[in-house]
Amino acid sequence: MRILSGIQPSGALHLGNYFGMMRPAIELQEQGEAFYFIADYHSMTSLFDPAARRKNTLDVALDFLACGLDPKKAVFFRQSDVPEVCELTWLLGTLTPMGLLERCHSYKDKVAKGLPVNHGLFAYPVLMASDILIYDSNVVPVGRDQKQHVEVTRDIAIKFNEAYGQTFVLPEPLIREATAAVPGTDGQKMSKSYGNTIEIFGEEKSTRKKLMSLVMDSRTPQEPKPDADKNLAVQLLRLVAPDDVAKDFQDRLCAGGLGYGDLKKALFEHYWQCFAPARARRAELEQNLDYVHTVLREGATRARALARTVLDRAKRNSGLL
Ligand code: ADP
Ligand code: TRP
Repeated sequence: MRILSGIQPSGALHLGNYFGMMRPAIELQEQGEAFYFIADYHSMTSLFDPAARRKNTLDVALDFLACGLDPKKAVFFRQSDVPEVCELTWLLGTLTPMGLLERCHSYKDKVAKGLPVNHGLFAYPVLMASDILIYDSNVVPVGRDQKQHVEVTRDIAIKFNEAYGQTFVLPEPLIREATAAVPGTDGQKMSKSYGNTIEIFGEEKSTRKKLMSLVMDSRTPQEPKPDADKNLAVQLLRLVAPDDVAKDFQDRLCAGGLGYGDLKKALFEHYWQCFAPARARRAELEQNLDYVHTVLREGATRARALARTVLDRAKRNSGLL
């Protein structure tokens, strides 16, 4: 089984990225041949600051390695180190109906918000299809918001296979329902674009402040709260604390007698503890950037060799070779 996923270097990674995509991806590296990459070409559709792109790319590499990506088990690389992916994007684009892209939420949402859109953003699902198909990927671990793009990938692969004969493997999205849409500080889906994120490696003081400021309702601590399971702090605690601890807090909130302040304090402490080992590893890696660059370079060499064979297959089948 080949597993593939990517993440854009568009800002500091947050709990939604971690529980929705990174943790499932890191766990899957034990179960198959994993290919994980930093989607720097994708970041060009919405980030226009070269220094920020460079910094974010290194940050994503550090974050992933600190959180447990093992370069001996997974091939870890930077998307733009495999330029073959752009060549395949062209081949795929010629078989992608406009309507398929016009229906994509990522593009429609930006248009609806009146944000400026460019051709790259419109065509982004074709580049993502190329990312997936060029490694003969079987499984793509992502959060729920990316499911549509994996479906588009399947549609494009089917069209190509019908037009030119069996060429591409059809991938399946892998979505963990329990963590498919982690809520942010405002209760909406956590996302960099909504400004409601809790970073994985946030600074201690500001993250404590962020968590202590989560908005709760005005019920007194004594009042029983039968809707405790939907409380935002409880939902976040379930992610970062052991199951029995989260359950205990939820039961106490439900029964009445637990104040929101104490609940949020516990949330911060468990958040901090949950990422303590990764935080220490990240600090070590920051002192050893040569190692990080070597991992990415070696990953790119391995990824590129595979990409070349699949691209050649697509070129041969479509009459280019
Ligand atoms: P953002 O919305 O913050 O820009 P991205 O779109 O870069 O995040 O997402 C990177 C990965 O993290 C994707 O696989 C996405 O599905 C996942 N992800 C992002 N936000 C969440 C969330 N709140 N809950 C679960 N998964 C998420
Ligand atoms: N589009 C994804 C995101 O914004 C990142 C990504 C690019 C990706 N190519 C991919 C994810 C291929 C999975 C597979 O989060």
